[in-house]
Amino acid sequence: MKIVRYVSLMQRTSQALQRRKRTLGLVPTMGALHGGHLSLIRRARRENDRVVVSIFVNPLQFGPREDFKRYPKPLARDRSLCSRERVDFLFLPTGHEMVPPGFGSHVEVEGLSDVLCGEFRPGHFRGVATIVLKLLEIARPSRAYFGEKDFQQLTIVRRMASDFNLPVRIIGCPTVREADGLALSSRNAYLDATERAQAPLLHQALSLGARMARRGRAGVEIRRRMREALGPIRDGRIEYARIVDPTTLRETKRPRPGDRVIAAIRIGRTRLIDNVAV
Ligand code: PAF
Repeated sequence: MKIVRYVSLMQRTSQALQRRKRTLGLVPTMGALHGGHLSLIRRARRENDRVVVSIFVNPLQFGPREDFKRYPKPLARDRSLCSRERVDFLFLPTGHEMVPPGFGSHVEVEGLSDVLCGEFRPGHFRGVATIVLKLLEIARPSRAYFGEKDFQQLTIVRRMASDFNLPVRIIGCPTVREADGLALSSRNAYLDATERAQAPLLHQALSLGARMARRGRAGVEIRRRMREALGPIRDGRIEYARIVDPTTLRETKRPRPGDRVIAAIRIGRTRLIDNVAV
């Protein structure tokens, strides 16, 4: 596995692959890799000649009071996981390379960025879209892989790729879960034992919402029942629990197959998001 630290070297590497007509799969990450990331890497491995994983803790997507400073950075472990998964290139750009002094251009995906998580994390998706566009421009992959756990992020990246006619296929991959339903996330490491024990309630509430939707119940009733199901979490706060159209992310009154039941909660200091399809 080759470690690539410089944007210029990543660009040259990708150009050389294109000349040799080799496909490249990109798995963009912020590190602290878990089974969810590994499932993206394995799919990229199956579908492409070469695989690049990027690790960059993107400062643009964290708010001033968020966990940028304490975000986990187990780099040695991440490296060995990537090498075990036969990743070809590990792209590790510095903050200075990705966001140099004077950096001033940003991507705003209107209509999708200010709803759901965007209501609670202003500027978050602008930071995500800006860095994802840079990564796609630098690595020029044939395909890029994103987890469905971050469903809003996936929807925004798809929209951006389509709006800008980017020559890449955006591939959404199913959420990987613990045996009790909790979606794998780097932030699960923040949960203490009591919080961890309560965290599966999120997936249970979403599954309840999806079952109700399949039985034809109205969006407003589903929303109320999900909130009730999340109520018992001690030291918990519901940011949103809704059922939305998967493309527009607008709330649906009469749920249809393919809609997404989606929620964000806080347990203590940890923010958890998850969603399931109807
Ligand atoms: O999902 C993530 O880890 C990040 O939001 C991403 C896509 C790597 C952009 O920084």
